[in-house]
Amino acid sequence: MFKALVVEKDEGGKTHATVQELSDDRLPEGDVTVSVEYSTVNYKDGLCIGPGGGLVRHYPHVPGIDFAGTVLDSNDDRYPVGMKVVLTGWRVGEAHWGGYAQKASVKADWLTPLPDGLTTKQAMAIGTAGFTAMLAIIALENHGLTPDRGPVLVTGAAGGVGSVATAILGKLGYEVAAVTGRPETADYLKSLGATQIVPRSDLADPPQRPLDSETWAGCVDAVGGTMLARVLTQMKYGCSVASVGLAGGPQLPATVIPFLLRGVNLLGIDSVLQPPENRVKTWQRLATDLPMDKLESMIQTGSLADLPKLGADILGGQIKGRMVIDVNA
Ligand SMILES: NC(=O)c1ccc[n+]([C@@H]2O[C@H](COP(=O)([O-])OP(=O)(O)OC[C@H]3O[C@@H](n4cnc5c(N)ncnc54)[C@H](OP(=O)(O)O)[C@@H]3O)[C@@H](O)[C@H]2O)c1
Repeated sequence: MFKALVVEKDEGGKTHATVQELSDDRLPEGDVTVSVEYSTVNYKDGLCIGPGGGLVRHYPHVPGIDFAGTVLDSNDDRYPVGMKVVLTGWRVGEAHWGGYAQKASVKADWLTPLPDGLTTKQAMAIGTAGFTAMLAIIALENHGLTPDRGPVLVTGAAGGVGSVATAILGKLGYEVAAVTGRPETADYLKSLGATQIVPRSDLADPPQRPLDSETWAGCVDAVGGTMLARVLTQMKYGCSVASVGLAGGPQLPATVIPFLLRGVNLLGIDSVLQPPENRVKTWQRLATDLPMDKLESMIQTGSLADLPKLGADILGGQIKGRMVIDVNA
């Protein structure tokens, strides 16, 4: 038997999430069974714990897009019994049963060996949000970002992606301008490495003109919508925005002028289907470039029973930093 957060749909189409004891024969088919130690709460998890947002295919469903733990049973030589592993993405926790359980059964190809120097708890403090922040920074570096080019903007800074991006950029020597709608998080953001706090309201209105003054050498954008349109008008010549999220909406009410007259690049970042070799490199970068004391200061912990409330909180933009779920608590 194992404990899991199970989401069921009633006849009226409403979803209900409860912690249940399941027998091992309920586990989906997979090459590797993992004894899950920790999971986490990302924005997408909020959708899957609640009404689904069109992501969940079948009910009853076990959400949790990330997990880390120890291999319990395996048909794949790459992942022997006892090995520590981490999983993010691959539509686990959406189309497949995920990490909000003491056991998970998955395809071997979806796993990544836990990098040296990280614990399973630290891996989940990073989770999809932190993994994506690292992907975004690597993409900006690959397009020429260096600390001497000027300040880097991080939007949705007090959230998961934003907090990890701020801490990594700070460690790498960047000036970091952190955009937040929660002024009370200013000290927290500065402790992570932000050198400037930009109130969300400064970037909330649609652009008044196609180009504004050249301000940012790069941007990790977790917000999208009007804010992204506004940021594009403020990028320095030849610089790039990594588009990660849509916390402020999926529309992009922008013009192409920043691309045409300033050579600005808009880089799309996807964490879900990243190829395995890129995952290994990205986790290694996280192990070296994310200061672990800063990661520790972002963490709050919870249990499976806390997830229905935490799911609603993250959809409401109310979670600061990263939530770690101890599935055995
Ligand atoms: N592309 C990918 O593979 C990928 C991977 C992970 C996440 N994402 C996406 O990235 C986004 C952030 O994820 P997360 O896990 O970091 O979520 P999160 O912890 O909830 O952070 C989002 C942050 O955005 C800000 N925000 C919320 N609503 C806003 C609004 N209406 N207007 C402007 N800012 C708003 C808030 O920051 P402040 O309180 O500081 O303002 C909030 O903390 C989500 O859209 C998520 O789906 C994409």
